[in-house]
Amino acid sequence: MEKAWWKESVVYQIYPRSFKDSNGDGIGDLQGIISKLDYLKNLGVDVVWLSPVYKSPNDDNGYDISDYRDIMDEFGTMTDWDELLAGLHERGMKLMMDLVVNHSSDEHAWFIESRKSKNNEYRDYYIWRPGKNGKEPNNWVSFFSGSAWQYDEATDEYYLHLFSKKQPDLNWENKTVRHEVYEMMTWWLDRGIDGFRMDVINMISKVEGLPDGQQQEEGGYAWGGDYFLNGPRVHKYLQEMNRDVLSKYDIMTVGECPGTSVEDAQRYANSEGTELNMIFTFEHMDLDAGPGGKWDMRPWQLQELKEVMSKWQYDLEGKGWNSLYLNNHDQPRMVSRFGNDGEYRGKSAKMLGTFLHMLKGTPYIYQGEEIGMTNVQFDITEYNDLEILNMYEERVTEGGGDHAKVMEAIHAKCRDNARTPMQWDASENAGFTTGIPWLRVNPNYQEINVEQALADPDSVFYHYQKLIKLRKQHDVITYGTYELLSEKHLQIYAYTRILVDEMLLVLNNFSAETADFRLPQNIQYKSAELLISNEHTEDELAQSVSLTPYESRVYLLKQ
Ligand code: NOJ
Repeated sequence: MEKAWWKESVVYQIYPRSFKDSNGDGIGDLQGIISKLDYLKNLGVDVVWLSPVYKSPNDDNGYDISDYRDIMDEFGTMTDWDELLAGLHERGMKLMMDLVVNHSSDEHAWFIESRKSKNNEYRDYYIWRPGKNGKEPNNWVSFFSGSAWQYDEATDEYYLHLFSKKQPDLNWENKTVRHEVYEMMTWWLDRGIDGFRMDVINMISKVEGLPDGQQQEEGGYAWGGDYFLNGPRVHKYLQEMNRDVLSKYDIMTVGECPGTSVEDAQRYANSEGTELNMIFTFEHMDLDAGPGGKWDMRPWQLQELKEVMSKWQYDLEGKGWNSLYLNNHDQPRMVSRFGNDGEYRGKSAKMLGTFLHMLKGTPYIYQGEEIGMTNVQFDITEYNDLEILNMYEERVTEGGGDHAKVMEAIHAKCRDNARTPMQWDASENAGFTTGIPWLRVNPNYQEINVEQALADPDSVFYHYQKLIKLRKQHDVITYGTYELLSEKHLQIYAYTRILVDEMLLVLNNFSAETADFRLPQNIQYKSAELLISNEHTEDELAQSVSLTPYESRVYLLKQ
């Protein structure tokens, strides 16, 4: 396995709207981020992934871009952005920008032109179709509820939008569109950025004819994913992008790829480097989703987590590279979802961090994870995210569904769980803003905040700092091969990582009860050093280990 800086890095994701407000308008901004660069340096992360900061009408908080080469007014100016990049580089950190090119905003100049007339030179930048029998061109449902098509009176046709109707899909079949995108990427790379996170990049190639989805849902729409996820020409386009742009720079790339199997990932993230460095898989994020999708909740099972994580670890070994995450701006907080956000909040947050950072791949920390931030339970009127609001309207306001049941799903799964303002201190609005925050602050900010975490040597923050430091000290954390140990154990997820004569033994108790682990006989070693734990435990490794609730330990064994 070849060495690379992006394999040895830890990434920190910033959702700028919620990170730090510098001017009191209640919205996070670039100067706010700049004021926290020393904090990030202290944590020890190598790369910052910045969720979109481009010009945007904010229908989907920046994931609807109206100008790819400028900064959103609320966030600041290009001069602020230059200062941010320089500030990161001065401190030895890198910057990864978000690339959102499956769709643009409907307020992008290309779309404004495109909708004007059928023979406009930008018409073919987007996916326009005439209606069928007075209805939409096909039955695809949008990710944000309702049809994936919007009728446009000016030309009596519909345009495709897999996300909101203010996010028209770009037509990647059009060579000019692809070249516009590559030029824009080059423009940012030449400004000195260090990589791209690519938004839903596995949706850019749609099956010709855009066939109807097979399984109709209520309302007559159907999931069309079979015809746009990992579509027929997606690898061709990514190889072209790689050849024309990516391969010319020493950068890091990660593709967001929902609905992707590990076989697909072997191509996207292949070790020859012809496409991307790594992708975000969603298989582990779907473990608590029932047949009805995200809002159809079921409890996740440790056995299934082991199966899914192990499959990705084994099947990408030597063939590709994993990204490691348990939450981001689209997912609930990991401690609330996979840990215990009550009695064992700090301890389980550390266990989850250890579990993830010791796997093989590049770890991603989402802002606030490093202090163990938790989910919220707001009233429907207090939410902002269009995914929540559209779904609630469709199911409850219009559909007459059960308010309490829908709210239960929202509390557990909604994206605003991750988007509440970063909790900096115990002062009003958690020190995020002096104004009125755009989204309500989590009411637990007086107990959970950065100031408190920095003052407590036993905090989640310092545990993460240590995890990151360890990665720099022991190659086995980056390059060792993975093996699952505790396949059948109902509470413990244990695994090893092996590199030449070194072995990491990683033990994690995922339950609120004590659990016993027996060391397999074939694990032989001359010395065992406890590298990190979330419990004040004896250093010694015994044949039988009793783990307290949510305890985790990592031993370095030497032959
Ligand atoms: C994935 C992004 O992470 C999410 O926040 C966004 O809503 C959709 N893609 C559409 O861009």
